[in-house]
Amino acid sequence: NQHQPIIAIDGPAGAGKSTVTRRVAEQLGLLYLDTGAMYRAVTWLVMQAKIPIEDQAKIGDLIKEVQLDLIPADSPELPTKVLINGQDVTQAIRTPEVTSQVSAIAAQAAVRQELVRLQKYFGARGGVIAEGRDIGTNVFPDAELKIFLTATVAERARRRTQDLKNLGHQSVDIEQLAQEIQKRDEQDSNRVIAPLKKADDAIEIITDGLTIEQVTQQIIDLYWRRKAEGRGKGTQN
Ligand code: CDP
Ligand code: CDP
Repeated sequence: NQHQPIIAIDGPAGAGKSTVTRRVAEQLGLLYLDTGAMYRAVTWLVMQAKIPIEDQAKIGDLIKEVQLDLIPADSPELPTKVLINGQDVTQAIRTPEVTSQVSAIAAQAAVRQELVRLQKYFGARGGVIAEGRDIGTNVFPDAELKIFLTATVAERARRRTQDLKNLGHQSVDIEQLAQEIQKRDEQDSNRVIAPLKKADDAIEIITDGLTIEQVTQQIIDLYWRRKAEGRGKGTQN
């Protein structure tokens, strides 16, 4: 069997998915797929084109025409470079405006259908660690290792506040941020298609009080353990 393993990382906003996933990818030599960046890119595009977010037919047509490129970053600290029709939108897809609209766009059937198709194509040969909301439940249900990464809302808001301060934002309202995070979690968890949900066979890691290094190491340990178990099974059969 030439299939390389797939690791699925899901969880709510600010749990540490992107940060930890990039590091695990680097250390295990896996390709990193940031599916949230894809939903953000489509959201940016819809806003640019001034299409009403409830116009699902138009949004569906728009996606079919667009050229979306994800270029892996050459350092684990940098986000994946995202290009839409050749334009670099790596920064533009992270604005509060995009963040506030992305859940509504990501709930749409046409959007999910097209992006999940691209994600499956990306993972077809394995050797991938993908992060998002529905990776273990929907995109790669047969992934060798599934992790559900989470933390309390307070901790996640604290992390996002720190991120914004590091980017030079002086006054960040942590209470407001906590409310926005909670609202997005609710929208993502309650949508009809592929909601945010822990897969039955996912391992939950609650990251409050854990460093990035500790979480990264836990996932790497689980990965090697899973591989050893897989080999064990192989010799029995
Ligand atoms: O990094 P952050 O947690 O802020 O969010 P993200 O991973 O960039 O994802 C942005 C949004 O995309 C989420 O809030 C979901 O609405 C949507 N998303 C999704 O529906 N399915 C995925 N597999 C990944 C993201
Ligand atoms: O991708 P997701 O929205 O799940 O979270 P992220 O953007 O990777 O992480 C949010 C912030 O939390 C980053 O600044 C990380 O450095 C930080 N973090 C942390 O402080 N402790 C951890 N155990 C994991 C992440």
